Amino acid sequence: RTMVRTLLESDEAIVSSPVLIKGWVRTVRDQKTLSFINVNDGSSLEGVQIVADAEGTADYAAVMARIGTGAAIAATGTVARSQGKGQLYEVQASSIEVVGECDDSFPLQKKRHSLEFLRSIAHLRARTNTIGAIARVRSALAQATHAFFANEGFTYVQTPLITASDCEGAGEMFRVSTLPAQLSAMPRDESGKELDFSKDFFGKPAFLTVSGQLAAETYACALGSVYTFGPTFRAENSQTNRHLAEFHMIEPEIAFADLFDVMDNAERYVKYVVREARERCPGDFAFFGSLVDKELPARLDVLVNEPFERVPYTTAIELLRAEIAKDPSKWEFPQVEFGTDLASEHERWLTESHFRKPVFVYNYPREIKSFYMRDNEDGKTVAATDLLVPGIGELIGGSQREERLEQLKLKMRESGLKEEDYWWYLDLRRFGTVPHAGYGLGFERLVCYVTATANIRDAIAFPRFPGGCEF
Ligand code: 4AD
Ligand code: MG
Repeated sequence: RTMVRTLLESDEAIVSSPVLIKGWVRTVRDQKTLSFINVNDGSSLEGVQIVADAEGTADYAAVMARIGTGAAIAATGTVARSQGKGQLYEVQASSIEVVGECDDSFPLQKKRHSLEFLRSIAHLRARTNTIGAIARVRSALAQATHAFFANEGFTYVQTPLITASDCEGAGEMFRVSTLPAQLSAMPRDESGKELDFSKDFFGKPAFLTVSGQLAAETYACALGSVYTFGPTFRAENSQTNRHLAEFHMIEPEIAFADLFDVMDNAERYVKYVVREARERCPGDFAFFGSLVDKELPARLDVLVNEPFERVPYTTAIELLRAEIAKDPSKWEFPQVEFGTDLASEHERWLTESHFRKPVFVYNYPREIKSFYMRDNEDGKTVAATDLLVPGIGELIGGSQREERLEQLKLKMRESGLKEEDYWWYLDLRRFGTVPHAGYGLGFERLVCYVTATANIRDAIAFPRFPGGCEF
């Protein structure tokens, strides 16, 4: 069996070779004695043209009667130079097996469908150019992620999804319950009395994790450099095109490292995976760059070739205040001062209008950031950074962690966290504590950024959001 991508990318030597192509029919031009079938097998954006004719193809009329858009076929034949436009090679079919017929109610008939409509048929939408291309680029980014951290000597750890701690302290966690899905199947004890499953996880409260960071810190403080890459959950009831209730995060954690090591690592990481993905999926990037967003190639060139900007939060505030002063009426949130949690219009101005490239904003006010971030000497800021990128806003959140026991206890008290709930986290500061730092990158936001996808619900196979859990 030959992958369509391999065939399309071959040199002249492939002409006259025997091939077997298996895939799904995108279009058919069906004539009495000659037909052109475009078949896509998912290996590339472009399909291959299969030519069938009454003389050369077994059972021509009977087979063609069963082939329509959406059908699955296996075509045997030889490669020929194509007479048609837009492709170098085609396949002259000697026989075609109809593996799976497709009836007329198939919703993806040849016409442009809106991404919104495609979301309602999430089980079929991967058969379209756009969603197929996003899936391939997403996979390339994931594979490049593991390659990058392997090259840099990181250990890959899987942190738990079910947890007792709220890493971000934002109270946006889903509770886990051991209640059976079928209430009729409620378990009973020997005497027949219903067991009390109201206490969540086998009698203790438990939640779906919002971040693997705290667990990753324990391994960083043993193995040096580690990363996690897995699903995380946020019970925020937001309907934006940047938020999901279930998303994936890449979270590196590095011992003996500070905030600047984190920025260096994050910048190398983003540049590496974008370069790799472009190299591995040239056809998909050509599609995004021509049919989705003409400015994408230039934006990605800047990303991989130019150093990211680095600006302290206080400087960012000064820049914003000066800009807003020119015409406050243009802003939804014109009130900006030290302590303001930047709104997305502020982030977008910084990265899209002012610097016009990815920007690390760092040293945020301690009041608006999480308890685990290291206090700076000024008593007002913490060693935290967000990476802002054009078109997306926040792509990464990271920080140096508070490694001093007393300082961390103080910060926990301020955040209303109980020491006994975090005894294991505090132990890290008792037993050979070291400066360490890490970050979390929202993988679906990276996919959006790299593929110029406007809505994060199209960057993941089955998006989970308020009202979105049909499959
Ligand atoms: O800034 P956040 O909340 O940082 C953390 O969770 C840290 N514990 C990470 C760490 O230091 N290890 O989230 C990190 C990133 C954000 O910058 C954003 O890209 C993404 O995760 N993110 C979301 N992506 C999609 N949907 C959501 N609801 C998201 N919330 C955060
Ligand atoms: Mg954040």
